[in-house]
Amino acid sequence: MSTHNVWTHKGTFLLAAVGSAVGLGNLWRFPYLTGENGGGAFILVYALTIFAVGIPILIAETMLGRASRRSPIMGMRHLTRTHHASRAWESIGWLGASSAFLILSFYSVIAGWAIHYTWQMLTGSLTGADAETIGAGFDALLASPGLLTLYHTLFIIASGLIVGMGIHRGIESSLRIMMPSLFVILLVVLAYGIANGDIGAAASFLFTFNLADLSLEGWLQAMGQSFFTLSLGMGAIMAYGAYMSSEASLTRTAIAIAVVDTAVAMVAGLAIFSLVFGAGLGPGQGPGLMFVTLPLAFAEMPFGALIGGVFFILVLGAAISSSISLIEPVAAFLVERFDLTRPQAVTLMVVASWALGLLTVTSFNVWAEGTLFHALFGRSAFDLIELLTNIFMPLGGLLIALFAGWALTHSEVMKEMRTSEAWFTVWRFLVRFVAPAAVAFVFLRSIPQVEGYLIPTIGALVIVGAFAAGRTFLVEPSQEP
Ligand code: PHE
Repeated sequence: MSTHNVWTHKGTFLLAAVGSAVGLGNLWRFPYLTGENGGGAFILVYALTIFAVGIPILIAETMLGRASRRSPIMGMRHLTRTHHASRAWESIGWLGASSAFLILSFYSVIAGWAIHYTWQMLTGSLTGADAETIGAGFDALLASPGLLTLYHTLFIIASGLIVGMGIHRGIESSLRIMMPSLFVILLVVLAYGIANGDIGAAASFLFTFNLADLSLEGWLQAMGQSFFTLSLGMGAIMAYGAYMSSEASLTRTAIAIAVVDTAVAMVAGLAIFSLVFGAGLGPGQGPGLMFVTLPLAFAEMPFGALIGGVFFILVLGAAISSSISLIEPVAAFLVERFDLTRPQAVTLMVVASWALGLLTVTSFNVWAEGTLFHALFGRSAFDLIELLTNIFMPLGGLLIALFAGWALTHSEVMKEMRTSEAWFTVWRFLVRFVAPAAVAFVFLRSIPQVEGYLIPTIGALVIVGAFAAGRTFLVEPSQEP
């Protein structure tokens, strides 16, 4: 059964996909990864991956959604049937649903930190505080399972309420208010950074490229980040694509999403580093960059409490517009498959993911180390869940690229893309060969035993595998169904 829902406007898919893409990945993860990896060179690799791999897969994933007009799992089931492809490709849907579930569980915990800091900023409790106090405050937050659980709960309930209200009344209407406000706030923070910080130092840190600065690990992180930030490989984009108007241009929309998402990351990076450098602080603080270094910069600046509060509201809004896209694919599946009502489906997903999130909560305090869990998996639950999503997302992206590249027929793709034959050829070359090889690199990052020299070999294997996939599992692309 298909839901046959379509967004109210031609442009809503763009709005929703940008809402999904712009999130903690842009405001929190991108700046700290860039800071840890020496700046410009990291950004160069990140941007190249977005354009050579991200956009083609974005087009592919949206196409699978729009062509099937179903939730990712049911959509892939439908497509494998209509294309006489192996049922194994349905794993794209299952992988996506599992990653969405896993990501939501920790995304909500981290977004919860922003609730804490919004409050701290607006009440002025950090004004004038020194580095030690602010650092200790962050540590105290992480040490408190009660507080973390409270914020995690608030955040996930808010996200669930939006999705529960449906794609029109809930998702569309909240995004229509939220997204423009977020862009305004981002520009306000940038202007504040220019006035009070050191924008010159920020710009030269971000845009001076020296590839020698970048380790192999940094390369792989940049590629992984470009996946995460575009919400690729896990069904969010496919679920939203299922509601996309048939008139909207896939290619143009995908490029617009990537450009806006990258622009937001760059502007956020400029604003944050300008404040950080202006306050004489260092860029390489890791995950604490936004929650320790940045509050410290705000603590020392005029109107810092107010702008800081507004900044964390921005973080919250961006996080919520992403977390709703993590709930939608799973909720839509439960509705289609088990005939649940939307509120029932959302509740099921959110409660389960909330419960799993408690493991992330305890990973920062009571079960931080020395537990049975550590003995079994050698890491905290949070690290394990993150590791799993780092495997599932690229794997999902790889399969999406292969399926769209090999199983969909020429005329189907042309109908969806509506571009020239030349663009079609470029796209298909990218999804058939370049994207799978590139994703294999990202994938290998999660397997620590694999040494650098093995990577080219595996890249080659992927290309051979792509041929095998095209021949074995799928109908010949020239055979129109
Ligand atoms: N793209 C989101 C961000 O940058 C994260 C996300 C990943 C959201 C996957 C949905 C799906 O924060």
